Amino acid sequence: MLLPGLGAVATTFIAGVLLSRRGLARPVGSLTQMGTLRLGSRADDPTPSIREALPLTTLDDLAFGGWDIFPENALEVARDAGVLEPHHLDAVAEELARIEPMKGAFYPRYVRRLNGTHVKEAESKADMVAQIREDIRRFLREHGAERAVAIWCGSTEVFLAPSAVHQSIEAFEAGLAKNDPSISSSQIYAWACLKERVPFANGAPNLTIDFPAAWQLAREMRVPIAGKDFKTGQTLMKTILAPGLKARSLGLRGWFSTNILGNRDGEVLDDPDSFKTKEVSKLGVLEDILQPERYPDLYGDLYHKVRIEFYPPHGDAKEGWDNIDLFGWLGYRMQIKVNFLCRDSILAAPLVLDLALLLDLAARAGLHGNQEWLSFYFKSPMTGEGLQAEHDLFVQSMELQNTLRQMVGAEPIVHP
Ligand SMILES: NC(=O)c1ccc[n+]([C@@H]2O[C@H](COP(=O)([O-])OP(=O)(O)OC[C@H]3O[C@@H](n4cnc5c(N)ncnc54)[C@H](O)[C@@H]3O)[C@@H](O)[C@H]2O)c1
Repeated sequence: MLLPGLGAVATTFIAGVLLSRRGLARPVGSLTQMGTLRLGSRADDPTPSIREALPLTTLDDLAFGGWDIFPENALEVARDAGVLEPHHLDAVAEELARIEPMKGAFYPRYVRRLNGTHVKEAESKADMVAQIREDIRRFLREHGAERAVAIWCGSTEVFLAPSAVHQSIEAFEAGLAKNDPSISSSQIYAWACLKERVPFANGAPNLTIDFPAAWQLAREMRVPIAGKDFKTGQTLMKTILAPGLKARSLGLRGWFSTNILGNRDGEVLDDPDSFKTKEVSKLGVLEDILQPERYPDLYGDLYHKVRIEFYPPHGDAKEGWDNIDLFGWLGYRMQIKVNFLCRDSILAAPLVLDLALLLDLAARAGLHGNQEWLSFYFKSPMTGEGLQAEHDLFVQSMELQNTLRQMVGAEPIVHP
């Protein structure tokens, strides 16, 4: 497993796998490790665990590597992040300390709040891609690994819209050679991975693999990709609550969401341009679920606002507040308040695991290009051109399970 960005999420994920495989903790929140899959009719009830039903790579067979722009090893990063308690980190300290990040590909204009010290030097972005490709090959050789999967766990980059350089493989390659400013650091990792046939998922909201050139390359190299932005705290709750309210034809007038968090992610998101990337990713969700154009009386007048505030005392323990103004019978108004005291990296870590195992499985099953059935894991699912993303968690869950059923030759189940 290759992780560009060896920060809080990546190290919480790695430590969790190491603890789970020694039986010292449970991989809660991971569908591939804890979930089941019904195969066949309810009367027969054949419901094996997903691990039994599918030939997933086992936790014992995983090796970990990554890149970061700071030199600290995974143990030092995890201790600094303060997500896991010392007794957990002590139990896997030696293994974590052995995971040292490779030097990062870093152009500071895309993440302005960080001054990386552990960075590669390259004459051009094309050369940077070549260096990352060499890192991937060396990692595989050193670990005796047959294949790799990469999940972007790096910082959120500033907002970028796709430009001419993103429209075709040729344009992108020419842009790499010319150091085109529209090509960000994360795109360099993604391009290198696709070239090495390494499946790639984007856990952050930045423009990394969601443009025509990357889709074309993924298809050409027959590599599965997925993105973007892990669906964890507040947005996870939104995609649970909103479909429920809509299913009951309850109206919504306002949804105000704010977050306070104090980790490095929060610090990066304190830069308005990085926040914009996140804001765009968080805002689309409600509109796509509620379809105000189809239900103008219920959702036509919804005011939706999202804020993120950097607040160091909270560290990784993010607090999300939602105020929901809804209305019912005859337009009478009501409110729901949600105060989610969550832990960002604890919610994201199982997603890293599932995405890695499922993308690896997809690659072995011959699937390539955008894997929309993995939308379940993302705030801003990548869709086919001109299509609207599916955000309803339960529809996403059904799509995911049916794809897994298809992989084992079972019939899809479209109703419970
Ligand atoms: N935790 C969650 O619930 C959640 C949910 C959705 C998205 N995300 C996203 O996941 C990402 C990781 O979150 P985190 O809490 O681990 O953040 P973090 O700040 O702890 O870790 C990110 C790491 O990426 C490194 N980095 C930045 N640019 C890099 C580059 N070009 N190459 C290599 N490394 C680079 C940073 O030095 C840092 O160590 C963030 O983008 C965050 O927005 C997290």
